[in-house]
Amino acid sequence: MSQMFQGNRVIAHTGARYPIFQAPMTWIARAPLVAAVSAAGGMGLLESSSADFAMTQREVAAIRAVTSAPFGVNLPVMFLKRNEAAEGQILDWIIANGIKFVTTSAGDPKRYTRRLKDAGLVVYHAVPSLELALKALDAGVDGLIVEGAEAAGIRNFEEVHSFVLLQAVRERVSVPIVAAGGIVDGRGMAAAFALGAEGVAMGTRFVASTESPVHPNYKAAIVNAPVTGTQMALRPPRAKHRVLHNERSRSADAASAGVYGEQHANVIADLYIGGDAANIQGSAGETAGLIHEVKGVTDIIDATVNGFWREIDRLAGLRLSR
Ligand SMILES: Cc1cc2nc3c(=O)[nH]c(=O)nc-3n(C[C@H](O)[C@H](O)[C@H](O)COP(=O)(O)O)c2cc1C
Repeated sequence: MSQMFQGNRVIAHTGARYPIFQAPMTWIARAPLVAAVSAAGGMGLLESSSADFAMTQREVAAIRAVTSAPFGVNLPVMFLKRNEAAEGQILDWIIANGIKFVTTSAGDPKRYTRRLKDAGLVVYHAVPSLELALKALDAGVDGLIVEGAEAAGIRNFEEVHSFVLLQAVRERVSVPIVAAGGIVDGRGMAAAFALGAEGVAMGTRFVASTESPVHPNYKAAIVNAPVTGTQMALRPPRAKHRVLHNERSRSADAASAGVYGEQHANVIADLYIGGDAANIQGSAGETAGLIHEVKGVTDIIDATVNGFWREIDRLAGLRLSR
């Protein structure tokens, strides 16, 4: 089926069957999910935000034990540079051990891009704004992951949503764009392509997948969320964080933006593992309101690809029927 994406530069860069990424997510985007996505024809991305060299080695081996399909590694600058020894080890090791595709995020891509590209790897950088997209181009990245403000996780203080941000970046850059934020299926993928993307990345959709390691309560909270089910909490000093509303956040201070702070340390233990969705606000995109069931990764990817072509055909039919 990949020939149906003829000329698609994201497929050329990744080697995946489809230009569909599973977004990097701390603790969640490890071997079981990454391998499932890659085996299904998507591009799984292994997270490395804990700067744990042994974990990176272990997870890469575990992915390779399951599939020979391509996958990538995410290097979040802000988190890795806190542990320079591990940062250096991870960088050296992925270069020496056959990783071909890296995404960088949360910081200056200059820190890694030259080195990775000199070693022959392809580098995409995740950006939440036009300004940072242009900076990433100066750093020499091969492509951009453009994240709109509806996306889950840590977000830019100034909010620009995917519909405008994708067009603003497309107007100014010629490298491939992967759209993140607002996408759960083929309809969203077709819309992103119309706005200038050549690929899509989904996070929240894959959290609520069978292969995702998080507690069923968290998956249920995503499935049950309405489109107004997330909030942009403040993340001092100058960022925001899109998280799921829960009973506590709705009743505590509905009028304020809320502050996403100390609870963060407990998210993995108390929410991802413990399932305390009533008290802990997990990251989720506005897309939570579009997710109505937990599905297997293969189903998600197949439905996205089939839905994409259905939308493309439907739109092409507007011209044919004249
Ligand atoms: C539970 C969860 C955890 C996330 N953790 C990270 C992270 O550790 N690092 C990161 O760069 N992005 C993280 N993200 C954001 C995703 O990489 C991606 O940008 C986002 O999920 C896209 O929007 P969507 O969720 O609506 O698809 C996370 C997202 C979710 C849902």
